[in-house]
Amino acid sequence: MILTASVMIVISMFSAGQGDADIQIVDGEDATPGQFPWQVAIFQGTHRKCGGSIIDRRHVISAAHCFGDDHFPIPRSIIAGGHDMSKEEPTWQNRSICHISRHPNHTTSDMMDLVILVLSQPWEYNERVQPIRLAPADSDQEGQVCTTSGWGAREYPHAVANNTPNILQYINTTIMNQQKCFDTLGKLKETEICAYDPTGNRSPCYGDSGGPLVCYDEKGPYLVGVVSWGKECGINVTAAAYARVAKYHDFIFCRKKPKH
Ligand SMILES: *[C@@H]1O[C@H](CO)[C@@H](O)[C@H](O)[C@H]1NC(C)=O
Ligand SMILES: *[C@@H]1O[C@H](CO)[C@@H](O)[C@H](O)[C@H]1NC(C)=O
Ligand SMILES: *[C@@H]1O[C@H](CO)[C@@H](O)[C@H](O)[C@H]1NC(C)=O
Ligand SMILES: *[C@@H]1O[C@H](CO)[C@@H](O)[C@H](O)[C@H]1NC(C)=O
Repeated sequence: MILTASVMIVISMFSAGQGDADIQIVDGEDATPGQFPWQVAIFQGTHRKCGGSIIDRRHVISAAHCFGDDHFPIPRSIIAGGHDMSKEEPTWQNRSICHISRHPNHTTSDMMDLVILVLSQPWEYNERVQPIRLAPADSDQEGQVCTTSGWGAREYPHAVANNTPNILQYINTTIMNQQKCFDTLGKLKETEICAYDPTGNRSPCYGDSGGPLVCYDEKGPYLVGVVSWGKECGINVTAAAYARVAKYHDFIFCRKKPKH
């Protein structure tokens, strides 16, 4: 969505407006190919709108607000195995969405900003396409340095198209204390988790919505958050809010469709 400056101060949901396709996460680093094999790009027609994460062969998790305009019959496709979005890469797997399951309680004020997408065809796993495991139920990662990735806007307030490469970007970001984040952002639900960059320069931005926030333990990476909203991106950023995956196990489990 395209936000005007006045709206931006209040809440910005980090999905991309039409025409912002060639933009990236603010002040991130280029990912290496296959560094985030669970990362997908969600296209609306030819427009790259949001990110998402592979949770199993038939399901992708993303942000509900990326699917808030379902009355527009624009075909959507999901690309996994992507790295450089400027061209169609041989590693791409392109899937259509056969079912969109938004969280039933999602509203703009009461975030619950999650959606489960059911694919028409399963992913074929390889080194560039892999699922991410979910954060354990009710776990908390406060203080850990985690990572978020995406092809969203690199500059604030409006990225200039073509000013950056189309390589997947990532940043390290620290999980914030819940009360501190509530005080910083002025609102926050138990079903959300916050992360921040100590320098204030790095953050998710438009087009990163729905993408992953992953933390790491001895078994490797796991999905802690789904990019949802924040205030400005990239300038004096204090925190960004993500759907807290550890609070959604029941929803995720019950929205997955059996194989048919
Ligand atoms: C995915 O495939 C569909 C059907 O061929 C096509 O319409 C769509 O443009 C493709 N998506 C991308 C991002 O290339
Ligand atoms: C949605 O909200 C209602 C009313 O608070 C609650 O009973 C229900 O469990 C919620 N649904 C989910 C999937 O959390
Ligand atoms: C992120 O943190 C890891 C581990 O501390 C470090 O190796 C890596 O260089 C950092 N990457 C960025 C982009 O800051
Ligand atoms: C960022 O913070 C610095 C120091 O507080 C301030 O001088 C500057 O105006 C801020 N920039 C913006 C764009 O808000």
